[in-house]
Amino acid sequence: VTELRTPRLRLGPLGDEHAGGSYLRWMNDPEVMRWLEARGRAYAADDLRDFIQAQNANPLVHLFGMFLNEDGRHIGNIKIGPVDAKHRRGDIGLLIGDRPSWGKGFAREAIAAIAEYGLGPLRLHKMTAGCYAGNEGSRRAFLAAGFVQEAVRRSHFWTGEAWDDEYLFARMAA
Ligand SMILES: CC(C)(COP(=O)(O)OP(=O)(O)OC[C@H]1O[C@@H](n2cnc3c(N)ncnc32)[C@H](O)[C@@H]1OP(=O)(O)O)[C@@H](O)C(=O)NCCC(=O)NCCS
Repeated sequence: VTELRTPRLRLGPLGDEHAGGSYLRWMNDPEVMRWLEARGRAYAADDLRDFIQAQNANPLVHLFGMFLNEDGRHIGNIKIGPVDAKHRRGDIGLLIGDRPSWGKGFAREAIAAIAEYGLGPLRLHKMTAGCYAGNEGSRRAFLAAGFVQEAVRRSHFWTGEAWDDEYLFARMAA
């Protein structure tokens, strides 16, 4: 399995051993889950193990854990997929669950690395991503990682309190 390196991060494979501990805490932290579709339910280690196994078994999905080079700590996950092979598009999703690691540029760094992996070795033509308009950190991280905003879908999401727009981002092969 591939490993990607950035100045401060190693993006590496996830296995059963990652299904508990910090990842499980993130998935049950409403602040972390606020802008994710996976929010609003409780997670057990088995759920995460099943998720990791299913993603790893799907050749169209490329799931990585984000680990700090400094001390090896697992701070989040990022993935491409499922890839649309016909159109050579890959959608990126990510979660930095370790809240003290927010706002330090780790999302920008991980997004740029996985986008370059998709557009390079995976030979994709277009990387895509989407976020809630309210998720300012996500929007800025994608823009800082070389994505452009290509569309707004108005009132696309119900947050539980209000309607929110969806921003769609893209980064093309050079
Ligand atoms: C959203 C998320 C990915 C951002 O990660 P991050 O590592 O904090 O982002 P970065 O540090 O790379 O920040 C990118 C930019 O956004 C800004 N930013 C980060 N969090 C912010 C926030 N909550 N509000 C406003 N700006 C924020 C940073 O200052 C930086 O700005 P700059 O480009 O002008 O310097 C992370 O908070 C997260 O995973 N949250 C939980 C799950 C989630 O929302 N995932 C994304 C779903 S689309």
